[in-house]
Amino acid sequence: MPKITVHNSDTGEVKVFKVGYGANLRKGAVFNDVVLYKGMAAQLNCRGMGLCGTCLIEVEPLENVNGHSLIEKLHRIGPNQKLGCRAKVYGDITIKVALKDL
Ligand code: FES
Repeated sequence: MPKITVHNSDTGEVKVFKVGYGANLRKGAVFNDVVLYKGMAAQLNCRGMGLCGTCLIEVEPLENVNGHSLIEKLHRIGPNQKLGCRAKVYGDITIKVALKDL
């Protein structure tokens, strides 16, 4: 099971949880009470529809997640970034969360 180490850039908090191979990162975070969002975006996000862009994360290493989807290209996210709701996890990763507010 891939291990996800989460660094919250807003609070400085570090959390670790595991998900199944190929699992959706946002769903795994919600299941483990890990917040990917910053500020009011925690309540006012699009619930994983790929529309709001507030689940933005930085991922290391990128090889352990899927490539950028069309919706991520439309959001013009950086090369080392993913939308949490569009990330599938295939190996251990370290992510930085709470990057984008509304
Ligand atoms: S939750 Fe809105 S884009 Fe991911």
